[in-house]
Amino acid sequence: MKHDLQLNQAGELRHFLTIEGLRRPHLEQILDIAESFAALPGRQVKKVPLLRGRIITNLFFENSTRTRTTFELAAKLLSADVINFNVGVSATSKGETLLDTLRNLEAMHSDMFVVRHSHSGAAHFIARHVNPGVSVINAGDGWHAHPTQAVLDMFTIRKHKGDFTPLRVAIVGDIQHSRVARSQIMALNTLGVTEVRVIAPCTLLPAEARSLGVHVYHDLETGLEEVDVVIMLRLQRERMDGALLPSAHEYFQLYGLTEKRLQRARPDAIVMHPGPINRGVEIASEVADGSRSVILQQVSYGIAVRMAVMSLTLGARAGEQRG
Ligand code: CP
Repeated sequence: MKHDLQLNQAGELRHFLTIEGLRRPHLEQILDIAESFAALPGRQVKKVPLLRGRIITNLFFENSTRTRTTFELAAKLLSADVINFNVGVSATSKGETLLDTLRNLEAMHSDMFVVRHSHSGAAHFIARHVNPGVSVINAGDGWHAHPTQAVLDMFTIRKHKGDFTPLRVAIVGDIQHSRVARSQIMALNTLGVTEVRVIAPCTLLPAEARSLGVHVYHDLETGLEEVDVVIMLRLQRERMDGALLPSAHEYFQLYGLTEKRLQRARPDAIVMHPGPINRGVEIASEVADGSRSVILQQVSYGIAVRMAVMSLTLGARAGEQRG
């Protein structure tokens, strides 16, 4: 069994840092466990005691609405105690390094760090430096990876489509700066879909796009032909150097998803978006709020998927400590 930073010697998840290197059974295990948690929020008693007594620290150095909140909710539903580290009012502004911040939070007996950072590799860095009993979850690092987003997207697709094998999935927009797209492409290929397409202007595609195992399209309407799933991405302007686009208006004219363009996809195609959405830039409101949109379901499913990832990684740690 391959031993790497995120797997223990038994091949179980001890950290969750990237989709890269995971095999289909790893992803299916998370999806299956998430399925068992998905009904909880609708029940009268929503909590399970799986992580009672554990301390989970949300360590977000970059803004977030969906990821931070659903990680907090997921931890609470598992009965863990949650610390939301507030970077804005922390001693980081006084020159404390990431490692020193980490050491101090470890001294408060945290069992898990959920990390978002604008630098690619930040979560791996933290995972290499934490004490043996501590797990690290990557909640998005730079352009690199956003693995729990990818898994909740796979969960949403499986809920609507069942089998991954026959599916054609199009990912549309700013692939170049998207950690979500990179993680989705790996997850979709690992789960064995028929085809992953990326649809984008040349300036928003990574040079190595084809080596990611995708078919590249520059024309939106051609790329949408007969797809089962359409995943829209926003323009990640905070990660762009210089002007890669003429204007938001012109971008919408070429790459904005409208009802008319969506007619190119299969009649039962679903529309997804990791959020935040920019209405009138990459997606029209009629589509975002339309009957084929599952965008808010993605957010809800994020709770169950994050519960699954947290319980699995801390379970693997418990197994290691027992062994
Ligand atoms: N999808 C996502 O990562 O959204 P947030 O930035 O709001 O967490």
